[in-house]
Amino acid sequence: MAANSPSPLPTFDCVILAAGAGRRMGGIVKQFETVNGAEIYQHAIAAFAKHEQCGQIILVVPQAELAMLQQRHKGEPLTIVSGGQDRHHSVQAGLAALAGQHAPYIAIHDAARPFTPQKVIDDALAALGQGARAVIPVLPVADTIKVIHQDQQIVSHTLDRNQLGRVQTPQFFDADTLQELHHNLQMDESRQNGIVLDDASLAEEAGIDVAVIAGDEQLAKVTWPSDLETLQTTHAHVLKQGQTMTAEYRTGTGFDVHRFTEGDGPIMICGIAVPHDKALDAHSDGDVGIHALCDAIFGALCDGDIGSHFPPSDDKWKDAASDQFLRYAIDKVGSRGARVTHIDVTILCELPKIGPVRDDMRARLAEITGLSLDRVSVKATTTERLGFTGRGEGIAAQAAATICFDTGDSA
Ligand code: CTP
Ligand code: MG
Repeated sequence: MAANSPSPLPTFDCVILAAGAGRRMGGIVKQFETVNGAEIYQHAIAAFAKHEQCGQIILVVPQAELAMLQQRHKGEPLTIVSGGQDRHHSVQAGLAALAGQHAPYIAIHDAARPFTPQKVIDDALAALGQGARAVIPVLPVADTIKVIHQDQQIVSHTLDRNQLGRVQTPQFFDADTLQELHHNLQMDESRQNGIVLDDASLAEEAGIDVAVIAGDEQLAKVTWPSDLETLQTTHAHVLKQGQTMTAEYRTGTGFDVHRFTEGDGPIMICGIAVPHDKALDAHSDGDVGIHALCDAIFGALCDGDIGSHFPPSDDKWKDAASDQFLRYAIDKVGSRGARVTHIDVTILCELPKIGPVRDDMRARLAEITGLSLDRVSVKATTTERLGFTGRGEGIAAQAAATICFDTGDSA
């Protein structure tokens, strides 16, 4: 599915599971939390979308989020379906959504594991190529593992950790084999309420050898609340080192102007209602800061401008709050497998004074974009009473946005 892919036929399709409720997170639906400018499930998709042998991607989501996510990802090469009660029901919903000519292999992946190294995918495909029908990434166990009597909280016995492995996803399968395993599970009345911990366990039960490849700590799953924080630091660390990933950085610029009209403020600038003795002439809320910023982001993506995504001719956007435009632009970046690393807005006007509200604007832009405050800059200048801004006829803003595409593992 990767753009400009030279490979004629995809080798594998991918089902990404994002329909869980996150009970161990205390109800935070973890896959929709933002990390480094994109939601966790978007990072999960991006790792597969950029792999040149990846065909269809099916995203399985909670029923309640289905319509919103389908709207958000409209036009993208992504099929979104709703999941089921347990993880294996969600897998089955994903498998059922694979359309038309499917690839010979299928990857099943937890959206709660946002960072999949390309090497893991390549290793799994190599094992399948050598005849394996099921392949899973596994990490060694460092700690001694004991079996505990749950009711008494005392130790029952100790396991031999050399025989144990920590299993991750993506799990890869021969496509027909996996479809058959799940079909058999669905047909088996006695197992309707049983627990299926992962897909490989179905292969094990059926007597199919499950091949093991090296897992990766980067594949860690967000399970407990503290995992979110760890993830933020781990990912930042990976990017800072610049050793495990190579990256392409792009910067886009944007510019916007709105005319002042008679009327009383406040006027919206960078998501903040700023008191002013004039109103704005605009189709939406006329937030020049956010509009310039959206154009900067679309510029970095080479994906049109704010007018092409939200046509002023469409009444839907009349008086619209501009924060939704910015969220949309950020989502576009995520769905292209990239993330925003820095935004910088300059407001040009004589009045209102920006200084007193500048920090509020930074905080608001950080909130809308999911970026940390140290990646968000707001500046202002007058134009020395020159030109239309100098005469107080209107307000202008220019912006720059930097986005980063991870382009794969470096050697
Ligand atoms: N998952 C799913 N459908 C379900 C249950 C889980 O698609 N009915 C997905 C989750 O969204 C997650 C992955 O399977 O990406 C692994 O599951 P887990 O870590 O257990 O996530 P949750 O089920 O959401 O969390 P918890 O078990 O703490 O409730
Ligand atoms: Mg679960």
